[in-house]
Amino acid sequence: MTTTTGARAEDIEFHYDVGNDFYALWLDNSLTYSAAAWDGLNGETGDTTVLARAQRNKLLHHLHQAALPPGGRLLDVGCGWGALLALASADDQGVEATGLTLSRAQLDHVNSLALPRVQARLEDWRAHTPDSPYDAIVSVEAFEAFAGPDLTPAQRVAAYSDFFAACHNWLTPDGMLSLQTIAFDGGVDADGPVGAFFADDVFPASALPRLAEITAACDPYFSLTALTSTPQDYIRTLRAWSARLLAARAPAEKTAGADTYQRYRLYLKTCELLFLRGEVTLYRIALRRRPRRLHLPT
Ligand SMILES: C[S@@+](CC[C@H](N)C(=O)[O-])C[C@H]1O[C@@H](n2cnc3c(N)ncnc32)[C@H](O)[C@@H]1O
Repeated sequence: MTTTTGARAEDIEFHYDVGNDFYALWLDNSLTYSAAAWDGLNGETGDTTVLARAQRNKLLHHLHQAALPPGGRLLDVGCGWGALLALASADDQGVEATGLTLSRAQLDHVNSLALPRVQARLEDWRAHTPDSPYDAIVSVEAFEAFAGPDLTPAQRVAAYSDFFAACHNWLTPDGMLSLQTIAFDGGVDADGPVGAFFADDVFPASALPRLAEITAACDPYFSLTALTSTPQDYIRTLRAWSARLLAARAPAEKTAGADTYQRYRLYLKTCELLFLRGEVTLYRIALRRRPRRLHLPT
């Protein structure tokens, strides 16, 4: 495996260990912390029930895209506060789900849910060794932390390749990987001021990929079967989060401090602007495991 520089536990803690109570003030009830899927949903952006439905739509999309069979084994790489694990284990289909996170606050929250047949682990995917293969893997907006801003594009591809190689090893022969990630789509890149804002103030040691880097990295291991680019999903999600955070200013400042409240207001608004300007986008990607790793010309 190549040596890669991405977010480590201490970088993740910087972002998430602001405290579960703070995030609970502006995320939906399931604490899903990624772009929702708003197809067919109308309503006020700050309306919690609409946000919750849009988040559930997104999670169902990934479970469907990952083709998780009844009673199958699911891995969620970057499980956050466990919303996907909760949904996958909610019905009586006997799904066994494992979630990986680098945040202790998230791990404690998932454990407190006492979900049936769910195991959450405080573990970097680079250190993960499953007891038996997974039928499906989902990873929603953790990919942004898999390579750092200090890497060249070629090094980023190598870092992402390590991830796809690991997923290839972990999956059953025809298993699917459902991936969601923010990515650069315009002229700005990881080396400019926008990249620096993300890396310094929002997600330390993280960097956004470009589509070409993702496809180059996955090609030996996976066949890409579906790809959508829906910046509008993130714009609406960011507006919902911003509206809710604004409405919760007093408790947010009380629980996390005025500086943190301001930093998150700025981060959510800056992200919205970047999506509006087409500098970044949101990809949802379905990947089918190749029976054998391809050795492609370089
Ligand atoms: C933006 S959150 C998304 C959480 C969740 N997927 C959701 O949609 O709500 C990113 C998650 O990725 C996890 N993560 C980042 N890098 C990781 C790594 N190297 N190994 C395991 N988890 C990682 C973080 O701990 C966090 O849980």
